[in-house]
Amino acid sequence: MPPRSLPHKPDCVLVTGGAGFIGSNFLLRMVRRYAELQFVNLDKLTYAGNLMNLHSIERESNYTFVRGDVGDLELVSKLFARYQFTSVVHFAAESHVDRSIRAPLAFVQSNILGTVTLLDSARRHWDGQMDTCRFLHVSTDEVFGALGEEGYFTLASPYAPRSPYSASKAAADHFVRAYANTYGLPIIISNCSNNFGPYQFPEKLIPLVILCALDRRPVPVYGKGENVRDWLHVEDHCAALEKMLTHGAPGTTYLVGGSSETSNLDIVRLLLNLVDEAMGRAPGASQELITFVADRPGHDFRYAIDARQTQKDLGWTPSYSLEAGLRQTVNWYLTNQDWLNAVNDQSYQAYLSEQYSI
Ligand code: NAD
Ligand code: TYD
Repeated sequence: MPPRSLPHKPDCVLVTGGAGFIGSNFLLRMVRRYAELQFVNLDKLTYAGNLMNLHSIERESNYTFVRGDVGDLELVSKLFARYQFTSVVHFAAESHVDRSIRAPLAFVQSNILGTVTLLDSARRHWDGQMDTCRFLHVSTDEVFGALGEEGYFTLASPYAPRSPYSASKAAADHFVRAYANTYGLPIIISNCSNNFGPYQFPEKLIPLVILCALDRRPVPVYGKGENVRDWLHVEDHCAALEKMLTHGAPGTTYLVGGSSETSNLDIVRLLLNLVDEAMGRAPGASQELITFVADRPGHDFRYAIDARQTQKDLGWTPSYSLEAGLRQTVNWYLTNQDWLNAVNDQSYQAYLSEQYSI
């Protein structure tokens, strides 16, 4: 049972980027569970934002959608004045590494300037009531750079971002901490590993592989497929974020991961088998779709999180094994054809042909 009385009483929660992959999973989890709280979702609806994700909660009386940019200071200030937010859960960001390599400036605009705009509005509106408020910043393990074959990211890991995406997220993290140190803003930072699950836009590896396999198109694997990611089901990430919001200590950084390190080639092979199984195809039928393509420039070799401290402090552990999570995800994409048709439009096709010449 979720707690009925929260330590810091988040009466009205501003959720940014709530129409995206993780943000929508978070709202789907929280809006009905916390009927006594108001949730305002501020989202610009970029290519990655999709209101279809929120169809099941859009009529709930404690949910409001506002289309807008987190970098729009006038709008954000007006929203703070109108709704008197006592919590912010900040997901809004440009989130895809490959797009950050093609067009980095949008990442500076949304991820850095957007975050600072929110922070500045929060500190102005929370003056004198900081201890009853929370600013939960959703960040990534990619801020720590790349690991070799061994070792884990820990709270002692230095910041060493290596892509425009991770550099923009690192800059945002620094601003969040600077606002805590300078103005006493009650911040919490979550640095999480790679997520997968329902509603993920199919530019990221896992939904991309599922879609390619369904359409029997080539599955692009960068380099030799040896890079390693630590995968976590999005519902498990959202469960950790809920705990941070309701029980997290201000000023704390939580490292969140799935302890599911897998090489890209292994995860692609596993996914193709799961799609074959779900489609009733012969075992191994889709393996021939694997197509090795030019490596991503500056491709980080390995990410892996040591989440033991977070597990202990929040009493959180992932509920999905990697295979169970992937199976659930494959089934979701297979049974949500309307969602797939909506995202699989001309601009998505144009993106694929620009990104992959296969
Ligand atoms: P996403 O790309 O699926 O969704 C991002 C959402 O933010 C979209 O709805 C988009 O419309 C919105 N948005 C973008 N710029 C905006 C702006 N300037 N103003 C308002 N809204 C804007 O991203 P995601 O995968 O859901 O990631 C959410 C957050 O979690 C990001 O901050 C990301 O860095 C972080 N994160 C993601 C992962 C992952 O594996 N996906 C892992 C760790 C952390
Ligand atoms: P991605 O889902 O883009 O997440 P991130 O880059 O943030 O980790 O990629 C996950 C891994 O899969 C990463 O090592 C890059 C690799 N990858 C491919 O091999 N082919 C692809 O088409 C994509 C999108 C990613």
